[in-house]
Amino acid sequence: MKIRSAGSPPIPTVRVVIPTRPRSSVGVSARLLAIGAVVAIALSGCSLGTSADIETPEFTRELRVPEVQAGHVDESGTRVYDLDVAPRHFDFGQGGPSDTIGINSEYLGPTLRMTRGEQVRVNVANQLDEMTTLHWHGMHVPAQMDGGPHQMVQPGTTWSPTWDIDQPAATLWYHSHPHGETAQQVYRGAAGMLLIDDPGQADFGLPNAYGVDDLPVIVQDKSFTDDGQMIVDPEGTASTGFLGDTVVVNGTAGPYLDVTTEAVRLRLLNASNARVYDFGFDDDREFQVVASDGGLLTEPFTTDRIQLSPAERAEVVVRVIPGERVQLTSYPPGLGVGGQHRFGSGEFGVLELRTAEQLTASPDVAASLNPDRPRLQESDAVRTRRFKITGLAINGQPMAMGLINETVTVDDVEIWDISNRDPQPHNFHVHDTQFQILTVGGEPPGPELSGFKDTVYVPPHQSVRILLQFTEYTNPRWPYMYHCHLLWHEDLGIMGQFVVVKPGEKADPSDLSGSAHSSAASEAS
Ligand code: C2O
Ligand code: CU
Repeated sequence: MKIRSAGSPPIPTVRVVIPTRPRSSVGVSARLLAIGAVVAIALSGCSLGTSADIETPEFTRELRVPEVQAGHVDESGTRVYDLDVAPRHFDFGQGGPSDTIGINSEYLGPTLRMTRGEQVRVNVANQLDEMTTLHWHGMHVPAQMDGGPHQMVQPGTTWSPTWDIDQPAATLWYHSHPHGETAQQVYRGAAGMLLIDDPGQADFGLPNAYGVDDLPVIVQDKSFTDDGQMIVDPEGTASTGFLGDTVVVNGTAGPYLDVTTEAVRLRLLNASNARVYDFGFDDDREFQVVASDGGLLTEPFTTDRIQLSPAERAEVVVRVIPGERVQLTSYPPGLGVGGQHRFGSGEFGVLELRTAEQLTASPDVAASLNPDRPRLQESDAVRTRRFKITGLAINGQPMAMGLINETVTVDDVEIWDISNRDPQPHNFHVHDTQFQILTVGGEPPGPELSGFKDTVYVPPHQSVRILLQFTEYTNPRWPYMYHCHLLWHEDLGIMGQFVVVKPGEKADPSDLSGSAHSSAASEAS
C-alpha cells in the first residue's frame, strides 16, 4: 500500500470512526491501514480540514499543579522515582468524569525533579491493558533508557531505566512513545513535566518556589462528549491531526491561578497533539523569555509573544501588579502558510492570573543567564545530513522499526538540514541532544530560537538547519528517534531512527527486526 505520493501531500479530511479505548497493540496495524486508506482517498481531493476554534472559557477552576516527585535515594546512592501508568478517571468539568490515563494521579503525571550529577532510576509500572513506554523528552540518556518505541513495557510489568543526569537545568517532559499509539496515549494523559536542577548554577533572580511563583503550564486542547468523556480521535479532521475545542492547563479547564508575588515564572509546555500556540497576555503586556527547550538562554529577551509547536517549551517571567486579572492568551500562530492551516482563526484565553492586593517583592531577572554554556561552532561541522519531510515519510522512508536510517559518530559536530516539502506544518524533534538553530528559511533565527532546543517548528516549504553533536553514549544496536512531533504524523510514520557509534563502528539492526513491537508501517505495506 502506498500512503504517500510525490508532489501531492496527503491532506486527509475524512473523519475515521475507530474504537478508541481500550486499544490493544494488536489493533495498531489494522488501524493504520484504515487511516492509510483514508489518506490515499484524500490525496485526490483538495478540500481542507476545518480547525476547531477555541473560545475563552469562564475561569472558574483553580489551576491544578502536579505534585512534585523528588524521588528517594536507595542504598547504592541512586535516586529512585516510581511511576504508575494506569487507567483512571478525571472530571474535567465538562458534564461528567472521563476515562483517562493517569500517572500516580487521575490525569497526567507528577513533576519529576532530577538533579545534575545524580544517578536516577525510574520504575515505570504499566497498569494499562495495552503496551506503553515513557520517553524522557529532551534528556541526554543512553538509547536503551530512552523510552522510545523499542523499550515497550508490557501490561502488568515494570521497566526500570537508569542513567546519570548530566545536562544544564531545564524544563523537560516525559510522555508515552509506543509506535502508532503515541497520539492517543499522550492525549489520554500519559505525560508529565520533568525539571532538571543544577546545583552549580546561580538562581539569576528567577522565581523558583514551585507552585507559588514557579508554575508548570502544560497546555493541551481537547474535545468532550456531552457527558464529559474526552473524545479520543488522534487524527481529528485536520491534516495536522487532532484539534480540540477546549483548552486545558495541567488538566484544568477554565483555570485561574492566585498570584502572590510580583513576578511569576511560567514553564510553558505545548503538550498538545497538533495545535500551535502563540502565547501572550490579553493586554499585550511584555514579558521576559528566559529559557527554551534545553535550558536558560544566554540572556533573557523581552517580547509580547512566544510561539510553541507541539513539544516545545519556554520559560517566561511575567510581572504583575496588585489586584489585577490578566489572561495568558493564545493568539493565531504565524505558521508561514496561507489560511488553510490556521489552528483556529481566533484568540482565546488559556489561564487567568488573579493577583493579590499585597504582593511579595520579586527580584529582577539577571541580565546575563548562562554565558558559560559551551556552544558548537558551525565551522566544526564535519557533514550535513538532509531530512526531507514529504507526505508521511522522511527522505521517502516511513518509520520502520527494523531499519536504522542514520549512523552518527559520537562527538562529530553535524549540520542537519530539515526541509518541509509539504504545504502543511511539521516540526522536528531529535532525541538525546539539545541542538542550536543555524537558519530558518535561510535566515538566522530570532532570540526565541537562539538557545538550546530539542524541537523546532519547520514551516511549509522551508528548511531549518540545526547544529548538533551526540556525546558520551554509543550503541550500534539500539537507536534513538527523530520525528515530527505532531503526534498523528509521528504515529503515521514521519519518524526515523539513528544510532550513535564509536568511530568506525557499524550500525547493527539485528536485534530490532526481532523486536516485540514490529513496524506498523512495514506491516501495512
Ligand atoms: Cu517527545 Cu520522540 O518524543
Ligand atoms: Cu508533521
